[in-house]
Amino acid sequence: MSDSHELSRRDFIKVTTGIVGGLIGAMIGLPSVFYLIDPAFKEGGKEAWIPIGKFEDMQVGMPYPFSFTRVQVNGWERTASSFGGYAVRKSDDPDGLLILNSRCTHLACTVNWSADANAFICPCHDAKFSMEGEVLDGPPPRALDIYEEHRITEDGIIEIFFKEA
Ligand code: FES
Repeated sequence: MSDSHELSRRDFIKVTTGIVGGLIGAMIGLPSVFYLIDPAFKEGGKEAWIPIGKFEDMQVGMPYPFSFTRVQVNGWERTASSFGGYAVRKSDDPDGLLILNSRCTHLACTVNWSADANAFICPCHDAKFSMEGEVLDGPPPRALDIYEEHRITEDGIIEIFFKEA
């Protein structure tokens, strides 16, 4: 009888020690495991409204340059990409803005506005685009891309809707 009682106490201590040890291990180990695997479940924002400038600073007939950087988080990998463009104002109506992507449609060099040439010039292969982004000269197969959606905030800031391709 006393043997079985002693055995039972030993078992109790073993079980209790096992449970307490397991709980301490879980308390220490789980946060570390979550910390390590958490990035795998995160994905960088693929869509966002990006502020590009004040509408009042955009002059009619003078393309307004802007640029921004997006950071993509994919698991443990972070990739920064730069984007840019020109807002072409035609009237006092913010809805009438034409917002061009400054990436050349030939081989993706960045075009620059030239007031002298009254055109966007691509430095890589001398392409020319009109203020509306149409190809005037050179190898690009199509007009400059357009940021399709934009809005104006209460503070008069123009924002474009950016969607990762
Ligand atoms: S990359 Fe622009 S013309 Fe070739």
